[in-house]
Amino acid sequence: MDLFNKFKGLEIIRLLKSSGMYPFFRRLQGSRGTNVFFNNQELVMMGSNNYLGLTHDPRVMGAAIDAIHKWGTGCTGSRFLNGNLELHEELEDELASFFGTESALVYATGFMANQGAIGALVKKDDYIFSDFENHACIIEGCRLTRANVLVYRHGDMEHLEQLLQSVPLDAGKLIITDGVFSMTGHIAPFDRIHKLAKKYNARTYVDDAHGLGVIGVGGRGTPSHFKIEPDVLMGTFSKSLASQGGYICGSKDLTEWLRVKSRTFMFSAALSPASTASALKALRILKEEPQRVDNVQANAAYLKKAFDDIGLNTLGSETCVVPVFIGSDEMSLVICQELLQRGIFTTPVPYPAVPKGHALIRCSVMATHTRADLDKAIAAFKELAPMIAEANNLADNDTALADNLDSGDSRLNHAPDSAADLFS
Ligand SMILES: Cc1ncc(COP(=O)(O)O)c(C=O)c1O
Repeated sequence: MDLFNKFKGLEIIRLLKSSGMYPFFRRLQGSRGTNVFFNNQELVMMGSNNYLGLTHDPRVMGAAIDAIHKWGTGCTGSRFLNGNLELHEELEDELASFFGTESALVYATGFMANQGAIGALVKKDDYIFSDFENHACIIEGCRLTRANVLVYRHGDMEHLEQLLQSVPLDAGKLIITDGVFSMTGHIAPFDRIHKLAKKYNARTYVDDAHGLGVIGVGGRGTPSHFKIEPDVLMGTFSKSLASQGGYICGSKDLTEWLRVKSRTFMFSAALSPASTASALKALRILKEEPQRVDNVQANAAYLKKAFDDIGLNTLGSETCVVPVFIGSDEMSLVICQELLQRGIFTTPVPYPAVPKGHALIRCSVMATHTRADLDKAIAAFKELAPMIAEANNLADNDTALADNLDSGDSRLNHAPDSAADLFS
């Protein structure tokens, strides 16, 4: 069969576009961080990972501009060869000192950090234990290893222990989890994961993309929240640190190994000077202004309380990712469109990003949102609450908008051997 036959599945996207309901790739005309311009209208941005609101901070923008003047616009080569700047190493030193780890290694993106690090650490006969709701790039990283990947039910420590018991005690084992889950805002039970890791001789790996700047002392994330260090701490600059790029923190041996074994690090151009400098500046601001973390937490608490009062289901979010449960994919699109008309930008999260029938609208707050911004979002959701309540009852676990896009449930596919009994 012609490989391109699958493009027929794009019909649903054409249909949604022609009816004006396609909710992705919305073309923004401008941004001020908390507010964006779309269709000549100013909207409150409620769907960004700019948790500390630093993307438009003049100090961060100035650092990027200065770096371009000093280093140019690109590194034009891998760090391994010609692209290793003083600036990268300065950022690595500051990251290690911020997290209290021996060492840090900067990658061009967080996605590449996960893919490269997991691939360099885990080999074919090893075992990975991965939370069902882990981020897509962890899943891709796991797949590349060709190791035995065992997926445990989201946050279910009994299930994790059962799986740990099912493999040889002396086998190489890695337990990998998001620190803060990107769609639900849940904090992983890392204290319990760490205990199980000790008991079963496993290493731990935390992807703290959504924990940095949001939880822990001074925004130091999940390890600080639990006062326990993972063996591997991964994070990204593309959220709280208002830039782009990713990092791995841990022992000197760990980063030294990754420098020479991690293919996404070795065979891709180094993080650009502007991105490196803006991440460094944002990190310094986070250190100097820990009140930003208090602000984002206070804003999240305010939004959640209001949503709870309205009767919306925020799925037990504990951080500044505040999802609103909708149910059907179609209704998540309709409600996002309604929100847009009320001046609120959010994104729907349909299958396959969540299981079928569990579509949600992902709101996230920034330290720089004003109460007026949040009140506007709350008023819009309040008006739509009856529609949302109706949608909650319409949830259909069998069909999804993306059914014909051949995407499959990637969270299950990352562990084909264990997927069958995941929910047994
Ligand atoms: C949990 C998690 N890990 C990793 C990444 C990838 O980070 P980056 O945007 O730096 O590639 C993301 C980005 O969405 C994420 O949410």
